[in-house]
Amino acid sequence: MAVRPVCVTIAVLLLQLTAYANAIDPHLEILPSGELQTKPIGSSILLTCKPKVDNPMLVDDMQWLDPQNRVIESLKLVVLPLESPYTRGHSKPAMYTELHQDRSLSLFFNSLQEEQAGKYTCKGSYARNEQLNKSVIIDTIIAITWENAPPNQYPILGEDFAIQCHVRARPSPSVDWLYNGELIKTNERYIINTYALKIKNVQESDDGIYTCRASVQTTGELQERPIRVEVHIRPSIEEISSPVDIIEGENANIECKATGKPPPTFTWIKSLTQQNLSIADRFGVDPITGVLTITNVNREDAGEYQCTATNAAGTTTANIQVNVIVKPKIMEFVNKTVVEGSNTEIMCKAFGRPPPEIAFRKFTSDSVYVLGVQRQDDRIIMTNKAEDVSGETVGTLSINNALTSDDGLYECVAKNRGGVAYKNGHVTVEFPPTFRSMSNKTFLSWEQRPVNLTCIAESIPNATIRWTWRGDQRVDDQVSFQVLGNGPISILEVRPVDHRFYTTYKCIAANPHGTREILIDLKEGTKPSEILKANMVELTATTIRFDIIPPTEQEPPVTTISVQYKMNDQTWYNAKNRTWSVGSVYVLEGLVPQTPYEFRFAAMNDVGLGTWGANLYQMTPGKTVPTQPQILTTAGSEYEQSAFSNQYELSWKAPFDNGEPIDEYLIKYCQIKRVTGAWEVLDNTCETIRSPIRTRQYLKGLRSDSFYSVELSAHNIMGYSKPGYAKFRTNRGTDASVLQHQGPLLTSGAVIGIVVAMLFIIFIIIDAIFCCMRKTGIIYIICERSRRKPVDEEDTKLGSLYGWRFPLPYCDQKMANVAGVTAIPDSGSGKNTIRLVRHTAIDEKEPLKEEKKITPIIDSGLRRETSITFDGKRSISKTGFVGKDSAV
Ligand SMILES: *[C@@H]1O[C@H](CO)[C@@H](O)[C@H](O)[C@H]1NC(C)=O
Ligand SMILES: *[C@@H]1O[C@H](CO)[C@@H](O)[C@H](O)[C@H]1NC(C)=O
Ligand SMILES: *[C@@H]1O[C@H](CO)[C@@H](O)[C@H](O)[C@H]1NC(C)=O
Ligand SMILES: *[C@@H]1O[C@H](CO)[C@@H](O)[C@H](O)[C@H]1NC(C)=O
Repeated sequence: MAVRPVCVTIAVLLLQLTAYANAIDPHLEILPSGELQTKPIGSSILLTCKPKVDNPMLVDDMQWLDPQNRVIESLKLVVLPLESPYTRGHSKPAMYTELHQDRSLSLFFNSLQEEQAGKYTCKGSYARNEQLNKSVIIDTIIAITWENAPPNQYPILGEDFAIQCHVRARPSPSVDWLYNGELIKTNERYIINTYALKIKNVQESDDGIYTCRASVQTTGELQERPIRVEVHIRPSIEEISSPVDIIEGENANIECKATGKPPPTFTWIKSLTQQNLSIADRFGVDPITGVLTITNVNREDAGEYQCTATNAAGTTTANIQVNVIVKPKIMEFVNKTVVEGSNTEIMCKAFGRPPPEIAFRKFTSDSVYVLGVQRQDDRIIMTNKAEDVSGETVGTLSINNALTSDDGLYECVAKNRGGVAYKNGHVTVEFPPTFRSMSNKTFLSWEQRPVNLTCIAESIPNATIRWTWRGDQRVDDQVSFQVLGNGPISILEVRPVDHRFYTTYKCIAANPHGTREILIDLKEGTKPSEILKANMVELTATTIRFDIIPPTEQEPPVTTISVQYKMNDQTWYNAKNRTWSVGSVYVLEGLVPQTPYEFRFAAMNDVGLGTWGANLYQMTPGKTVPTQPQILTTAGSEYEQSAFSNQYELSWKAPFDNGEPIDEYLIKYCQIKRVTGAWEVLDNTCETIRSPIRTRQYLKGLRSDSFYSVELSAHNIMGYSKPGYAKFRTNRGTDASVLQHQGPLLTSGAVIGIVVAMLFIIFIIIDAIFCCMRKTGIIYIICERSRRKPVDEEDTKLGSLYGWRFPLPYCDQKMANVAGVTAIPDSGSGKNTIRLVRHTAIDEKEPLKEEKKITPIIDSGLRRETSITFDGKRSISKTGFVGKDSAV
């Protein structure tokens, strides 16, 4: 058993070794362990230096030394001077130590700085003699930090730009760029520099998000920084069409437009004074739109202005020339007076900026005078003289050899870009008296009648008038003469008491430009002389038409012509007469047929009736058929054109009846056809109608677009006259039936009338039913009232009004008689008479029988009669004329 003692020996050895190790070798330990501590800048660090000894109570003098071997103070011992770098923002120093009870000493770095890197040593002594120390090296690293990498960057269009991304890190980082997620490589546009991405000739398309990516390989740190890039554009002011015109006294806006990114803002200054117009009186600047507003523009506002557009990318200015337009104003345009035949100038002075153009216009004319000589009138010359400096224009209208027609109101028109001004002036052309408006230079009088000799002198200025007679004698005889007015109109009232006054008078008119005279004759008026000639030109049994030539050159002129006529056996004393006005158709009517007459004629004027003369003897022919009627046609056409396709309105002139009244016309019309130039009547187309005595008849039932011939004869008791002829043609086109159905059959008014009437009838019926069944309603009330009055009184009243009583049959409750009106043809009388017989039920015992006889128009040649008979009372209304008693 030798193994057992060996094992025990090893175990004891091990135990002894362990005890040895526990007991010896005092040293310092720094936590965290590791000779090299790599810490990022800005981090807070705690290093603890722990003595590893048997008895920590024997450890003394624990210290931390900085890389420069200076003792780092403990927090309690740090005396902080005011404004020491450590105090800035912190209450604690950048590093300090703190001693713990187990004699370990901590070193605190509040926020590790780059310059604090280095070798730090912990020192201490053990049991008074043994020096302990231990070192640690602090190495700082820098995490990726964005030193200069603004998140928004604004390059300027067209320029080179470097997108800044200044990254700091230790170990040094590598930086690359992404644009919209894609990696950027250096090429002709992009240059990647250490701290920036350079873009050459920036375009708007370079807008976007750029990512600056920084990485440190050794630490594996990676950071990205998005940078928004927005390309800015320098402002550019749009071309302004300079100069700008603004108008004095008005408000003006001057625009300055500029583009740029971001949108520019504007300022304006006046170049001369460098005055900022945003804050100037009367001026306003809209910084957004760039509009310069000038209120109540005045002349001094003219000049150069400068508009400045500014944005983040830069500033641009533009100069704008501003002209102030002054509206024209007419300073002078005066009335002018000129003597006929002389020359004159009318001048119009006007001011404005630019100097206005002047035009002249005469009020009676629409057109203005042209510059220079007038084409229609070379006496008139127009000139215009403008002066830019003073802004004044002088317009002149020269009139040579002035005429009275130049007199009148003229207008001066001054016009420039700012407006127009008008002023009126009068040109008065003076002239000596004229008598051109005097139409009458001969006056008449007779039988001592006073007469007014009127003298009208036209002139400017007004003329004065005096009168002389008989070789410059003054008209001072108060009895015979009276002068009314002495210009420009003068009336000489003459009472020609004897023949001396029928002579020549002189009217003398004078004004400053001359004296003129005119002779005025006073003549004695006489009755007309005998009729020169009177002929009979047309004769019927009862009429004569004369051709009469009145005496000519009568003063006063002939106004009427009279004829006196008598039967041969009568005296002129009993003669009848007839007077026509001169120039009319001299027809004498109402003569007795087959009678010898003597006629004599005389002319009449204002003085009186001339002597009778030019006697004519004529026997009137016997009664005979009427003269040939004359159908009225359009002169010169071969046939008349009817307005209708199916009818024709024939009208004619009533012929003379030759002693017996015309009782009818016979009209015969036939359809005709042109056959080789001649007209031929078509068989079986002739119609004959008899027309009563009137001068118009419709021929109906005609064929459209056809020719007709028509013959018209007048008839009297002696027979038919020679017929008058005419041809006509019906209108082509629409048929009669078509014509009739064009348009509504009833007008809307008629329809309304019918509806109202129907409603009224329905009302009466209903009311009547109520009257009978219920004893109520309007009719019942009327009946009740009328019942209370004496029937006779009512009867006569109504009878006189309507010829019979108002029918109220419904009121009879027994309804004994059926009320009604019966029309009975009255054949007994031989006339076309209708008897209206009505039974009424008011008087039950003796039903009234009322008769109403209506005799329609009976055409009995000359007599028409309408007779109406009521209850034996007869009222006759006659129409037409009664010519012959035998006719009825
Ligand atoms: C010119 O004449 C007109 C009328 O003819 C008159 O109304 C106006 O007052 C006159 N002007 C002057 C300046 O005399
Ligand atoms: C002449 O004229 C005057 C004034 O108009 C008038 O009163 C008088 O009655 C006239 N005489 C005759 C005869 O017409
Ligand atoms: C001239 O005569 C006319 C007509 O009688 C009159 O209306 C006018 O007032 C007169 N003029 C002068 C200046 O007397
Ligand atoms: C015409 O006759 C009427 C009376 O019949 C008579 O008063 C008148 O003076 C006569 N005229 C002439 C011009 O004879």
